[in-house]
Amino acid sequence: MRYTRLGRDGPDISKIGLGSLALSGAYGPIDRDEALGLIRRALDGGVTLLDTADFYAAGEVERLVGRAIAGRRDEVVVSTRGGVRRGGPGEPIEFDASPDHLTRACEASLRRLGVDRVDLYYLHCRDRTPVEEAVSRLSELARAGKIRHLGLTNATVDQVRRAHAVHPVTALALEYSLWGPHAPPELLDEARRLGLGVVAARPLGRGFLTGRIRSPLQLGAGDWRHEDPRFQQEHLRLSTRPLRQIEAAAAQLDLGAGRLALAWLISHGDHVVPVPSTRDPVHLEMNLAASGVRLTPETRDRLTGILPAGGANQSGSLLL
Ligand SMILES: NC(=O)c1ccc[n+]([C@@H]2O[C@H](COP(=O)([O-])OP(=O)(O)OC[C@H]3O[C@@H](n4cnc5c(N)ncnc54)[C@H](OP(=O)(O)O)[C@@H]3O)[C@@H](O)[C@H]2O)c1
Repeated sequence: MRYTRLGRDGPDISKIGLGSLALSGAYGPIDRDEALGLIRRALDGGVTLLDTADFYAAGEVERLVGRAIAGRRDEVVVSTRGGVRRGGPGEPIEFDASPDHLTRACEASLRRLGVDRVDLYYLHCRDRTPVEEAVSRLSELARAGKIRHLGLTNATVDQVRRAHAVHPVTALALEYSLWGPHAPPELLDEARRLGLGVVAARPLGRGFLTGRIRSPLQLGAGDWRHEDPRFQQEHLRLSTRPLRQIEAAAAQLDLGAGRLALAWLISHGDHVVPVPSTRDPVHLEMNLAASGVRLTPETRDRLTGILPAGGANQSGSLLL
């Protein structure tokens, strides 16, 4: 595993983190003990960034993370987020970044995680609450020692600037992968200008970039990807040709497409950190091995051109 600093002033973390959406059951069922074992395996494999959210399995994933880090708190940077509420698929998604909600949400995350302080707390920036009000409250929580670093997710460039003027922002979480939608260049530029880390959410295109999902019929009944227009049959069909090109490029480098997709992200610089999620220990090993793959700038740029040309660069689902 390689290590890096998250942004100019952030914590030192592994070059690949562990996302935890797959451990919530959003992509198919998983047993709690297996999920716990997977997180512990990731830590044993050198992962030091665990990314979660307060609403994953109604808080259950935060509890799992808390159990997994018990006794090894100093080894790991835990990120979680507040400002959104959601139940299962089909249930309404509510945004609430009001100061009082954020205080309650942060306190609840601390309890579930079993920690005194969240290392990186993301504000979900979709609510109508002005970002200054939400960030002021998070800044108070930081002064009270409950939050170490502030992150933003779903933020616009304007929100990033306004938030940063109230309290230093350490990282932006964005949907960022070889598959569309690509991270907006103006947001990436702003992150670079301000020295923010970029956490690449959905780095494997929710599994599409591994080449294993060719049809929505492969997804189980409660799978969150049924809500994502990119997993409808027609869009998957349009994406097949570019995916084959990615698979061919991966084969030339003696890699799988998923590992190439992670290496592509890492090749953009030390400030980009992917957080793939998985339920499968073998997939975990494969993903962590991507930290050692180095792409030339030519390979990186060639790959970047593949998917937009394939017409797959359309909006995905809301980033949650
Ligand atoms: N801040 C935010 O707003 C935000 C929003 C969304 C997501 N995120 C973070 O980003 C993380 C990653 O996003 P994601 O989980 O939606 O998508 P992802 O990591 O791009 O893809 C996960 C899917 O890929 C499959 N997969 C993983 N490794 C594989 C491998 N080596 N071979 C084959 N299949 C593989 C998993 O299935 P298997 O279980 O079969 O491996 C799972 O279904 C989340 O867990 C979350 O922590 C953050």
